[in-house]
Order: sequence, then C-alpha cells, then structure tokens
Amino acid sequence: MKEKLQKIREEALLAIATEGADLEQIRIHYLGKKGELTAVLRGMGALTAEERPVVGQIANEVRADIEKALGEKVKEEKEKLLQKKLEEEKIDVTFPAKASRMGHLHPLTQIQRNIEDIFIGMGFSIVEGPEVEYDYYNFQALNIPENHPARDTQDTFYITDNILLRSQTSPVQVRTMEKQKPPIRIISPGRVYRSDAVDSTHSPLFHQIEGLVVDKGITMGDLKGMLETFAKTLFGEDARLRFRPHHFPFTEPSAEVDVSCFVCGGKGCRVCKNEGWIEILGAGMVHPFVLENCGIDPNVYSGFAFGLGVERIAMKQYGIDDMRLLYENDVRFLDQF
Ligand code: DAH
Repeated sequence: MKEKLQKIREEALLAIATEGADLEQIRIHYLGKKGELTAVLRGMGALTAEERPVVGQIANEVRADIEKALGEKVKEEKEKLLQKKLEEEKIDVTFPAKASRMGHLHPLTQIQRNIEDIFIGMGFSIVEGPEVEYDYYNFQALNIPENHPARDTQDTFYITDNILLRSQTSPVQVRTMEKQKPPIRIISPGRVYRSDAVDSTHSPLFHQIEGLVVDKGITMGDLKGMLETFAKTLFGEDARLRFRPHHFPFTEPSAEVDVSCFVCGGKGCRVCKNEGWIEILGAGMVHPFVLENCGIDPNVYSGFAFGLGVERIAMKQYGIDDMRLLYENDVRFLDQF
C-alpha cells in the first residue's frame, strides 16, 4: 500500500509538472471523491492497527504534496497568463491621444458676441430685458398706441390683452430710461417673437440687438459716426453705409441703414441680389414723446437708437440662404461655422 501511495505521488507530480496539464482534471483524478488516493484510503480497513497510522500519515503527506504542487502550478499559470496579458496589452503612454470632439458656439451666438464686443469697445454696456413684456413697453411707451398700423407688422403672441411676447428689443430702451438717467449708452441683445409663418426668411422667434444713446447734445452725426465705426469693425475697412429715410414711430427722424455688400463690395452679386447694398438695421433719433414717457426732458437731452437683426447679419455674412437651418441643430450644418 505504501508503494501504491508513492506511485500515486510520483504520477501525480509528474502529471502536474507536464506542460499544458489540465490541473482541475488531475485534482479530480487523484484527490476527488472517486480519485485514486481516496480509493487507497478506502482499502485501509484491511490493514493492521499498527500499519494504519503509518499508512494514514503517508497518505496525508501524499495528499499534501499533491495539493501543494497543484497550488503552486495554478499560481504559476495565473502569473504566466497575467504576464502574457501585460505583454499583449502594453499601453504606449507616449502615443498621441484620440482627439476629443469639441463643439463650438452657434453661429448666431458668435455673431452676437462679435457685435457685443464692438460696442463694449465703444463704451456701451449690455442690458437685458424680459421676453414676456407688457403691451405698454413693447408698444405704447414707444409711441405705438392701440390701433396704430405699426402693430400689424409686429403682430405677436399674447399671454393676456396687455401681456405679450415682445416683438422687438426696443422696449428695453424704455425700461432703461425709466431706471437710469443720462448719460446712457447701452445695447440690448435678445430673442423677439412675431406671429410669422416659418419660411426661408421668417421665423416666429428671432434675435435683435437694440442700441440706445442718450445725453446732452447727441445728434444724427453721432449716430452715423458710431454706426460707421461699427460697420467697419464688423465687415471690414471698406464697408460703407447708406442711410435711407424711413419711418419708425419711436424715432424722428428715422432711417433704414444699408451696408455696402461685403461679398461683392457694391458691384452686385447673389448675396445682395444685385443691389450692391444690404439692409442691416433701423435707426433714428429717439422721439421726444418716448423721452417724455420715460421722464427725460427732450428739451435738455437727445438720443439715438438703433435695432439690428442678428439672423440677417449672420445669414449674409456666412452665406446662409435659409433661416430654418439656424434652428434645426443639424451638426453637419453647424460644424461649418
Ligand atoms: N424695433 C425695430 C423693429 O423691430 C427696429 C428699430 C428701428 C429699432 C429703429 C430702433 C430704431 O431702436 O431706432 O423693426
């Protein structure tokens, strides 16, 4: 029996040491319930009382040896596997990183910020007004009483009879003059609303930037000079402005202002529809009634105001021919700017 045990040990250790051995299979074969060692132990009943402990001890030693060899081999295999993995999955930390995809500002925001920067550079500050506005600020205080025809072109969305979504940023003029006494030099960017059907040049929501300067002795000359500086900074040194007489209820005199086409320089092209000029804003001298409505004495102070459409400028500057593209949030479109 002792020889049998020694043989089991030898065989088992050899099997374990063999390259590519199935260790679990070996464990079951020698140490399992139906394994060789167990079979030997079962036969111990036939031994004498003196032999039994001696053989028992040897059997235990054999079991311990096999378990130890198995344990070491398992550990060794695991280490080998890890080593192999480490070698195969080597990480080269000097390898250039995968570029992460960065978004950027929306073209409308870019244009708005450019315009803001230019006016900040001229000493203007930026103020904001509410998009849900009183009829008073959006119309009445701006010299547009009920039933005034100017309301037709600025039909908007009503919350109640006298609360609406502002149709222009001009109400911020009134809110500013109510709070702040001259000198005033502000611009006010923001969303405005009109109940217009969506097409390539209309949207019920769009963006304007309002400007207002009020002080003693402000003239139309100041307006022209300031707007010219603005246009040259935004569109380039060659940009020229053209003032066309117009009517706005809250300015007198009023003008619509065109810039020489920044694509063809005024010769006529697709962008300016062969006009050579592109309309960019409305402007004028603040109407005395508006000043009075805000508690500013028109005999002491005068001012100018202007309002420009951000979409219009963005579309012309980037050559975008359909306004809807600006709101669809298609990354393939937005990526280009
Ligand atoms: N609020 C006008 C509009 O939406 C634009 C405008 C014209 C603003 C003349 C002004 C201005 O401040 O003086 O059509």
